[in-house]
Amino acid sequence: MNLDNTDQKLLALAKEAAINAYAPYSGYRVGSAILTASGEIFTGANVENASYSLTICAERSAIFKAVNAGYKDFSAIAIYVDSDRDFPPCGACRQVMAEFSPDLKVIYANLNGFQVTDLKTLLPGQFKL
Ligand code: THU
Repeated sequence: MNLDNTDQKLLALAKEAAINAYAPYSGYRVGSAILTASGEIFTGANVENASYSLTICAERSAIFKAVNAGYKDFSAIAIYVDSDRDFPPCGACRQVMAEFSPDLKVIYANLNGFQVTDLKTLLPGQFKL
Protein backbone atom coordinates (compact mmCIF):
# COMPACT_ATOMS: atom_id res chain seq x y z
CA MET A 1 0.00 0.00 0.00
CA ASN A 2 1.18 3.53 -0.75
CA LEU A 3 0.94 6.40 1.70
CA ASP A 4 -0.53 9.69 0.54
CA ASN A 5 1.43 12.93 1.07
CA THR A 6 -0.14 13.67 4.45
CA ASP A 7 0.59 10.19 5.78
CA GLN A 8 4.16 10.40 4.51
CA LYS A 9 4.59 13.71 6.32
CA LEU A 10 3.08 12.23 9.47
CA LEU A 11 5.47 9.31 9.36
CA ALA A 12 8.46 11.58 8.71
CA LEU A 13 7.50 13.66 11.75
CA ALA A 14 7.08 10.52 13.88
CA LYS A 15 10.58 9.44 12.86
CA GLU A 16 11.97 12.87 13.72
CA ALA A 17 10.17 12.81 17.09
CA ALA A 18 11.87 9.51 17.98
CA ILE A 19 15.17 11.42 18.17
CA ASN A 20 13.95 13.02 21.40
CA ALA A 21 12.81 9.79 23.00
CA TYR A 22 14.20 9.07 26.44
CA ALA A 23 14.70 5.33 26.42
CA PRO A 24 17.80 4.39 28.42
CA TYR A 25 16.18 1.22 29.81
CA SER A 26 14.54 -0.49 26.83
CA GLY A 27 16.69 1.10 24.13
CA TYR A 28 13.60 1.44 21.90
CA ARG A 29 13.22 4.99 20.68
CA VAL A 30 9.62 5.50 19.60
CA GLY A 31 8.18 8.60 17.96
CA SER A 32 4.62 9.47 17.09
CA ALA A 33 2.73 12.13 15.17
CA ILE A 34 -1.02 12.65 15.36
CA LEU A 35 -3.08 14.53 12.80
CA THR A 36 -6.11 16.50 14.01
CA ALA A 37 -9.35 16.63 12.00
CA SER A 38 -8.53 20.28 11.23
CA GLY A 39 -5.02 19.52 9.95
CA GLU A 40 -2.69 20.29 12.87
CA ILE A 41 0.02 17.81 13.78
CA PHE A 42 1.36 17.05 17.26
CA THR A 43 4.34 14.84 17.95
CA GLY A 44 5.55 12.86 20.95
CA ALA A 45 8.14 10.31 22.00
CA ASN A 46 8.40 7.70 24.71
CA VAL A 47 9.79 8.90 28.02
CA GLU A 48 11.01 6.14 30.33
CA ASN A 49 11.67 6.21 34.04
CA ALA A 50 13.85 4.30 36.52
CA SER A 51 10.53 3.32 38.09
CA TYR A 52 9.61 1.47 34.90
CA SER A 53 5.82 1.66 35.11
CA LEU A 54 5.93 5.47 34.98
CA THR A 55 7.04 5.29 31.36
CA ILE A 56 4.81 7.04 28.84
CA CYS A 57 4.53 5.80 25.29
CA ALA A 58 5.10 7.97 22.23
CA GLU A 59 1.44 7.79 21.19
CA ARG A 60 0.06 9.03 24.49
CA SER A 61 2.72 11.78 24.60
CA ALA A 62 1.48 13.09 21.26
CA ILE A 63 -2.23 12.69 22.08
CA PHE A 64 -1.94 14.42 25.46
CA LYS A 65 -0.06 17.31 23.88
CA ALA A 66 -2.83 17.72 21.31
CA VAL A 67 -5.60 17.51 23.90
CA ASN A 68 -3.82 20.06 26.08
CA ALA A 69 -3.68 22.37 23.08
CA GLY A 70 -7.45 22.07 22.64
CA TYR A 71 -7.77 19.34 19.97
CA LYS A 72 -9.84 16.23 20.51
CA ASP A 73 -10.73 14.99 17.01
CA PHE A 74 -8.05 13.04 15.23
CA SER A 75 -7.91 11.44 11.82
CA ALA A 76 -4.59 9.58 11.78
CA ILE A 77 -1.60 8.67 13.92
CA ALA A 78 1.83 7.52 12.79
CA ILE A 79 4.26 5.65 15.02
CA TYR A 80 7.90 4.93 14.28
CA VAL A 81 10.42 2.78 16.14
CA ASP A 82 14.13 2.60 15.34
CA SER A 83 14.12 -1.19 15.37
CA ASP A 84 13.45 -4.29 13.25
CA ARG A 85 10.65 -5.19 15.64
CA ASP A 86 7.00 -4.61 14.94
CA PHE A 87 5.64 -1.90 17.25
CA PRO A 88 1.85 -1.75 16.97
CA PRO A 89 0.42 0.53 19.68
CA CYS A 90 0.12 -1.01 23.15
CA GLY A 91 -3.27 -1.65 24.75
CA ALA A 92 -3.15 1.45 26.96
CA CYS A 93 -2.50 3.68 23.94
CA ARG A 94 -5.31 1.99 21.98
CA GLN A 95 -7.72 2.77 24.80
CA VAL A 96 -6.59 6.41 24.90
CA MET A 97 -7.02 6.67 21.12
CA ALA A 98 -10.53 5.21 21.47
CA GLU A 99 -11.48 7.94 23.93
CA PHE A 100 -11.14 10.54 21.22
CA SER A 101 -11.28 8.91 17.79
CA PRO A 102 -12.77 5.40 17.52
CA ASP A 103 -12.10 5.27 13.76
CA LEU A 104 -8.53 6.53 13.89
CA LYS A 105 -6.23 5.51 11.05
CA VAL A 106 -3.06 3.96 12.48
CA ILE A 107 0.24 3.76 10.61
CA TYR A 108 3.08 2.03 12.39
CA ALA A 109 6.56 1.73 11.02
CA ASN A 110 9.97 0.36 11.86
CA LEU A 111 13.35 0.25 10.13
CA ASN A 112 11.99 -2.16 7.51
CA GLY A 113 8.67 -0.67 6.47
CA PHE A 114 5.19 0.26 7.59
CA GLN A 115 1.70 -1.12 8.17
CA VAL A 116 -1.59 0.72 7.84
CA THR A 117 -4.60 -0.24 9.92
CA ASP A 118 -7.33 1.40 11.99
CA LEU A 119 -8.42 1.47 15.59
CA LYS A 120 -11.60 -0.55 14.99
CA THR A 121 -9.34 -3.40 13.88
CA LEU A 122 -6.77 -2.94 16.65
CA LEU A 123 -9.36 -2.48 19.42
CA PRO A 124 -12.71 -4.13 18.72
CA GLY A 125 -15.42 -3.77 21.36
CA GLN A 126 -14.19 -0.38 22.52
CA PHE A 127 -14.98 0.61 26.09
CA LYS A 128 -16.69 4.00 26.46
CA LEU A 129 -18.70 5.69 29.17
N1 THU B 1 6.31 2.06 23.67
C1 THU B 1 5.73 3.10 22.99
O1 THU B 1 6.24 4.22 22.98
N2 THU B 1 4.57 2.85 22.35
C2 THU B 1 3.90 1.65 22.35
O2 THU B 1 2.78 1.57 21.89
C3 THU B 1 4.57 0.47 22.90
C4 THU B 1 5.75 0.73 23.75
C5 THU B 1 7.56 2.31 24.39
C6 THU B 1 7.43 2.20 25.88
C7 THU B 1 8.84 1.84 26.28
O3 THU B 1 9.60 3.02 26.46
C8 THU B 1 9.40 1.08 25.08
O4 THU B 1 8.52 1.37 24.00
C9 THU B 1 9.46 -0.42 25.28
O5 THU B 1 8.26 -0.92 25.76
